[in-house]
Amino acid sequence: MSTPKNSSLLISLSLSLLFTFFNLALSDCNPNDKKVLLQITTHFNNPSSLSSWNPNTDCSFWEDIGTDEQGHVTRLRINPATDIIGPIPDFLDRLPFVSTLDLSGLPNLFGPIPSSIGNMNRLTQLYISQTNVSGPIPGSFGRLSSLTTLDLSGNGLTGPIPPALAQLTRLEYLRLSSNKLSGPIPDSLGRRLKNLFFIGLDSNRLSGPIPGSLSLLPTLTTIDFSKNRFTGPLPNPLGRPNVLSNADLGYNKITGYGSFLFDKNYTNLSFLYINNNLFKFDFSNVDLTPTLVIFNISHNMIYGSLPKRFGQMKPDPNYVDVSYNQLCGPIPNGRRFKQANPSIFAHNKCLCGGPLPACK
Ligand SMILES: *[C@@H]1O[C@H](CO)[C@@H](O)[C@H](O)[C@H]1NC(C)=O
Ligand SMILES: *[C@@H]1O[C@H](CO)[C@@H](O)[C@H](O)[C@H]1NC(C)=O
Ligand SMILES: *[C@@H]1O[C@H](CO)[C@@H](O)[C@H](O)[C@H]1NC(C)=O
Ligand SMILES: *[C@@H]1O[C@H](CO)[C@@H](O)[C@H](O)[C@H]1NC(C)=O
Repeated sequence: MSTPKNSSLLISLSLSLLFTFFNLALSDCNPNDKKVLLQITTHFNNPSSLSSWNPNTDCSFWEDIGTDEQGHVTRLRINPATDIIGPIPDFLDRLPFVSTLDLSGLPNLFGPIPSSIGNMNRLTQLYISQTNVSGPIPGSFGRLSSLTTLDLSGNGLTGPIPPALAQLTRLEYLRLSSNKLSGPIPDSLGRRLKNLFFIGLDSNRLSGPIPGSLSLLPTLTTIDFSKNRFTGPLPNPLGRPNVLSNADLGYNKITGYGSFLFDKNYTNLSFLYINNNLFKFDFSNVDLTPTLVIFNISHNMIYGSLPKRFGQMKPDPNYVDVSYNQLCGPIPNGRRFKQANPSIFAHNKCLCGGPLPACK
């Protein structure tokens, strides 16, 4: 039996429940977060590409803004635009709930990356790519402990890869391509980034040897280290042989022995580029792992003959290139290559048959 007092309590309880529900379903943009977003538009002088960021509307309806049930901004993306002119605001960390920050395709974004971004500890995905930002990668990024994706490609970043990035133990995807980064790959990356499956460092000025610690990464399938100044010799193994799928080491100064890359124990390798290096090894007896779909060894000092299995390989001749080496002897199963472009065999010591002049 409910007394009048009890039923009024019940009514107020259900009212407040109803209110909470209503609030959850339709909660407005958090006022602090909305204020910070409006400061961003002011910072960029109210560009027309941010015209949907209208102070009179709820920010959860603004273009490329995502909010959670409490109205906190969780996704901040600025669409590719040329009217975003200036440095990255140094107060983005006043949006503490952001998990995706995407500043890509903004060619007039310039200046250094503010180290305050390292305070945004809920970030899982951070993209600052195809912009004109310069200066170093802030060491404070080592504090972004939830980060799974970091893409800083296509900028003017200089200096080393900060060893602090090895603290990002949840990182799965790391892309720093097309910058002006220099120095070595920190060995600690291989020892700590256990969840990494993609590492793209191509088109930089990185140097030193490729660290052997990469073989400790259990899920690393793709490495792109091309167009740098890496020197050799390569660590053996490179990555985990049964996991590595795509490796591009082209256009470096890697020396010495690399035939192990063709061993049968690289059971997942399909794309292998080692072109334009200083590799020097005998190709005659390499295994040629049957999973290879594309391989390019051109512009090295590789000698010996083409291995017998070359004639039965899976790759279409259009995806093979052994030119500019010191190879000699008949092209195995030359008939298969009769229609191939002779340039894939060109500039060797004495290859013959197939699309080249017949062997004597
Ligand atoms: C990029 O920024 C640099 C200064 O860091 C400046 O000299 C250069 O002109 C900018 N490039 C473009 C295309 O805006
Ligand atoms: C791959 O197999 C070769 C023999 O074919 C062996 O010498 C080499 O140690 C193996 N590499 C790994 C990483 O197991
Ligand atoms: C082989 O590589 C692919 C990516 O190309 C990847 O999805 C797969 O997990 C790899 N296999 C193993 C055994 O790691
Ligand atoms: C191999 O690399 C050379 C550069 O040395 C390039 O010109 C050629 O197109 C590449 N071929 C393939 C099949 O990737």
